[in-house]
Amino acid sequence: MNKTLRQTVIAGNWKMNKTPSEARDLLDGVKKLCGKTKWCDVVVCVPYLDIPLAVRTLKDCRVSVGAQNMHQEASGAFTGEISAEMLRDAGVKYVIIGHSERRQYFGETDALVAKKITRALDCDLRPIICVGETLEQRDMGITLEIVGAQVKAALTAVPEDKARRVIFAYEPVWAIGTGRVATSEQAAEVCGHIRSIVRKQYGARIARGVTVQYGGSMNAENARELLSQADIDGGLIGGASLKPEPFAAIVDASNQ
Ligand code: 13P
Repeated sequence: MNKTLRQTVIAGNWKMNKTPSEARDLLDGVKKLCGKTKWCDVVVCVPYLDIPLAVRTLKDCRVSVGAQNMHQEASGAFTGEISAEMLRDAGVKYVIIGHSERRQYFGETDALVAKKITRALDCDLRPIICVGETLEQRDMGITLEIVGAQVKAALTAVPEDKARRVIFAYEPVWAIGTGRVATSEQAAEVCGHIRSIVRKQYGARIARGVTVQYGGSMNAENARELLSQADIDGGLIGGASLKPEPFAAIVDASNQ
């Protein structure tokens, strides 16, 4: 499968880390080390409150700003929530949807994830849709079924003309924040499965163009091997995105 047909996207997910004052140095560092990157798209998905600073700091460079969540409605009486329109207006281009931490701690279901995807696409945000199995599910041998069902549910929200704007992130729950990374064979198998589902739904041409990332304890040491796999087109990086150097090392490792 020809990787040149699709974009490699390396995205940092800062999660609930970095106050606006703390974010300044990290954003400056990312701009310095990744601001001229041409071979892939670099994204930092920052906490909502860091978005204005991130957009200002990164405006003249090639790093884009993403959010980590959004509400599924356009506006209204949803105290404490943030809409896709607000993100777009603030200069955000990407949004993580259905991260396993949101599914686990905030009860997000496949149906809610699908609604958010629809809204994100309508507002011209690129959704980074997270899917992945728990350790129990892997041990039961049902990884492909679980991930396949999550992908199919997500795709119900995606019209064919917008399918290429979607990014999938395969994040095995057992590999997130644990230091236990999937082997490149495990990651490649599931990322290939995700692409095969996209192919069944929209055909080979669209499937060839859809970006599928791996996430889960990706770091400067293991990134090159993971990113060399034919069906892995980038990474969604938690811990290693909280300092500029390891994050930049992963961006460099994607240049292959
Ligand atoms: P870690 O890279 O810290 O394992 O986190 C992965 C992740 O959840 C990115 O969304």
